[in-house]
Amino acid sequence: MTRIGVILGSGLSGFTKELDKPDVIYSELGGIHKKSVIEGRIGGKTVFLFTGRNHFYETYSRDKVFRNVNIAKDLNIEFLIITNAAGGINPLYNVSDLMLIKTYINLFQRRLIKKDICAIDFGLLQWAKDIAIRNSIKAYEGCYYGSTGPTYETQSEINYLKRIRVDAVGMSTIPDIQRAQELGMKTLGISCITNKLFSGFSVKVTHDEVIDAGNKAYIRFSKYLKHLINDY
Ligand code: HPA
Repeated sequence: MTRIGVILGSGLSGFTKELDKPDVIYSELGGIHKKSVIEGRIGGKTVFLFTGRNHFYETYSRDKVFRNVNIAKDLNIEFLIITNAAGGINPLYNVSDLMLIKTYINLFQRRLIKKDICAIDFGLLQWAKDIAIRNSIKAYEGCYYGSTGPTYETQSEINYLKRIRVDAVGMSTIPDIQRAQELGMKTLGISCITNKLFSGFSVKVTHDEVIDAGNKAYIRFSKYLKHLINDY
């Protein structure tokens, strides 16, 4: 029986209400984000939802940053969908759009795993794109820039990210994708655009805005996740 995990990014934890027979099997206090692992069923499959993550900007402990993925391995999860909230650099992107991570720029690299790997599974990426098309769900594919955070980007950083052709920027996911690949799990990364980052004038990004936009993206996001889970 296939076991699927989903790490839910900021503002996206509402997906936990889609679980049949939910059972909280892990919870962790402390840190900025509330963390839990909830087991349940979606469309006859066993699914584990992870809410909240530890970030490198909160801790220097690899063990904490890799905790969700290490737990996923202990639970024998084969396929881990890793989601995040991200700022949109690509001018075509709007708030609530989804982007499949096709490539990334890894600014965490010094603190990550030893092997130097690109952890994108292109077969799964193509599969996920096909599912989006078949079900008329709009999903871009693009380059994710993993910032160490915790601050949002300055004007100069936004200009720089545009020039180097980044599509979306966030503060997570790359450690998760790389660790999962190291442990032999298949992964798919999905960003939900929670704010647009403009070059030329300053717009202050707030955490509340990110959470609010995540909630607004919910219908498309949850529809897509359910299709991915059902078709895997
Ligand atoms: N920058 C970095 N991380 C983010 C953003 C952003 O604009 N929005 C959501 N996560």
